Amino acid sequence: MHYGDTRPDILKYDPFKAIIAPRPIGWIGTRNADGIPNLGPYSFFNAIGNAPHMICFTSEGLKHSVVNARDQGEFTFSLATEDLAQAMNVSSGAWPDGADEFAQAGLPIGESVATKAPFVADSPAALECVTVSFQQIVDRDGAPVDRYMVIGQVVQTHINEAYIRDGRFDTAAARPIARMGYRDYATVTEAWELDRPDS
Ligand SMILES: Cc1cc2nc3c(=O)[nH]c(=O)nc-3n(C[C@H](O)[C@H](O)[C@H](O)COP(=O)(O)O)c2cc1C
Repeated sequence: MHYGDTRPDILKYDPFKAIIAPRPIGWIGTRNADGIPNLGPYSFFNAIGNAPHMICFTSEGLKHSVVNARDQGEFTFSLATEDLAQAMNVSSGAWPDGADEFAQAGLPIGESVATKAPFVADSPAALECVTVSFQQIVDRDGAPVDRYMVIGQVVQTHINEAYIRDGRFDTAAARPIARMGYRDYATVTEAWELDRPDS
């Protein structure tokens, strides 16, 4: 089977997000112009480079996280884990501007060092970032679409030392959750190694 812009009837729902899966969840912390904390999950999210460490997330519409990251010039990423899944889901609610999703989800705020952006204190790892790019996405005709991408450079890394084993961050022990298609999530529970051909 193959198709272009029009999905065949056999596919009841768009499989795009089920195919590009699992996607890490960028749990994005910001403050609005009044300093009120904001938290929201974004699975159109990823790390996009090393040295310097860069991450990006994309918003469908001008949501609070992108507006705050653009206007305040900073944001955080917190690792969303199985233990925090319910709180992550609460933070995805369509809360009004100025609602503090940390408070709504019962999440204490961690102590930021390099920025004023808030992060989830109970998360095994969090990153403070400075916004380096904000752009509206354009389609193949160059026409702007209602999608907005923020790129940030990591300026501070927070790790709960309980998750450090043999000098490494133990990702599987943190049990990060990831987004798939539909209402599906995945949990990272194990890791396996593969040597590079040239290593
Ligand atoms: C796991 C998960 C991933 C999500 N990913 C995105 C995303 O990539 N882009 C987006 O616009 N909305 C996404 N949403 C919806 C937003 O989290 C939701 O609209 C939220 O209210 C945005 O919060 P904010 O306005 O405070 O930024 C996602 C929701 C969930 C539960």
